[in-house]
Amino acid sequence: MTGHASTPSAPRPLLSRRASALRGTVKVPGDKSISHRAFLFGGIAAGRTRVTGLLEGEDVLATGRAMRQMGAAIERDGGSWVIDGVGNGCLLEPEGVLDFGNAGTGSRLTMGLVGAYDFTTTFVGDASLSRRPMGRVLDPLREMGVQVLARSRDRLPLSLKGPRVAAPITYRVPMASAQVKSAVLLAGLNTPGLTTVVEPVMTRDHTEKMLEGFGASVHVETDAKGVRTIALTGQGDLKGVADFVVPGDPSSAAFLVVAALLVEGSDVTIENALMNPTRTGLIETLREMGADIEIVNPRRSGGEDVADLRVRHSALRGVRVPAMRAPSMIDEYPVLAVAAAFAQGTTRMEGLDELRVKESDRLAAVAAGLLANGVEHEEGEDWLTVTGRPDGSGLGGGMVATHLDHRIAMSFLVMGLASSKPVSVDDATMIATSFPEFEGLVAGLGGVLEPAG
Ligand code: S3P
Repeated sequence: MTGHASTPSAPRPLLSRRASALRGTVKVPGDKSISHRAFLFGGIAAGRTRVTGLLEGEDVLATGRAMRQMGAAIERDGGSWVIDGVGNGCLLEPEGVLDFGNAGTGSRLTMGLVGAYDFTTTFVGDASLSRRPMGRVLDPLREMGVQVLARSRDRLPLSLKGPRVAAPITYRVPMASAQVKSAVLLAGLNTPGLTTVVEPVMTRDHTEKMLEGFGASVHVETDAKGVRTIALTGQGDLKGVADFVVPGDPSSAAFLVVAALLVEGSDVTIENALMNPTRTGLIETLREMGADIEIVNPRRSGGEDVADLRVRHSALRGVRVPAMRAPSMIDEYPVLAVAAAFAQGTTRMEGLDELRVKESDRLAAVAAGLLANGVEHEEGEDWLTVTGRPDGSGLGGGMVATHLDHRIAMSFLVMGLASSKPVSVDDATMIATSFPEFEGLVAGLGGVLEPAG
């Protein structure tokens, strides 16, 4: 875990060409959301946590570095990671800044974790992270007594200074965001009394599930309308988990699933994908579009549902994707838009406002990428329609601006595997933030990726 994540490296343009068929069995790396939390919760819990299956992407490693700077001992040991945590309430004031590179989840969750400490922490990140809104996390932290110092309002770089004793709050999360929910709950760990988060729309539930596994007192209630109330009792003990297993990332699997659906003759099995229902919206949508995705060998692993996905080339048809499904597939819209470019008819995706504040303005970046590659589409304020060409004829030939966004890069490289003309992306380096194995796995299945001019 060396290096400084926010030092930009030279861009590396990459191109993908139409493949004959993708075949084989692959295992996607660990889930990014769960891996961040494994470092955070292992680092704050007392005693030892051993993590297997951790995603060794740059984003997650940045979180590990930050936890080290605050006193946790974190070492790689063969195929697993061993974390000796500090104990709840016992983080140390870090020396130097915490550099989160491209990582929204790592930075926002850590802001929550350290916010309630009576010391100063400075957060920096790359150009993409420095553009992203942090007010959504800072507003509730301010209510708890945290002071925020930022040159540009609520953007990185910024410093947090916690109060002597933080005030517990009840916070209704104004947007569907697991990061905001998590930041408030994590601030509650070092706050006396009950910290309560009200979540009108359910988002990924890894924080509440994992905190419980690490021994926190977390109480979740869901009312008849689906509104969830999550109450955490602060200043309790957290204990390391002897053997924590990270399931495979469904958001990374998504690229391989769509590639197999689009490339003629493909038959690919993706092993060990997390099937938590707060993460499976893409699979549901693709199946509605006519995708042949077989869920094989469903099982439990690390307290989660996981399964293998057998995916065969399929003729897709356009569908309407309802706004209420967005939280369960929020990171998958770019690659769904690519799938829709090969579907019969029009796909309409609604409720996409949160895409505007991801690693890039993903709605604009997707629309620009579709335009560059001859795909008929229309972009609204919070919606997108894509009209497909099932044989991919005339599609491709463009250079896609990735804006430091790993998912834009991978989505359009998937497009080039099926379009009649190759597709280029202006920079593939960011893929290492979430899915360093992507290029190797695609090549292993028979896909063609090569440097672009
Ligand atoms: C994440 C939550 C989502 C998601 C991100 C990971 C998390 O962000 O897009 O990739 O691990 O909590 P939001 O909370 O901003 O929706």
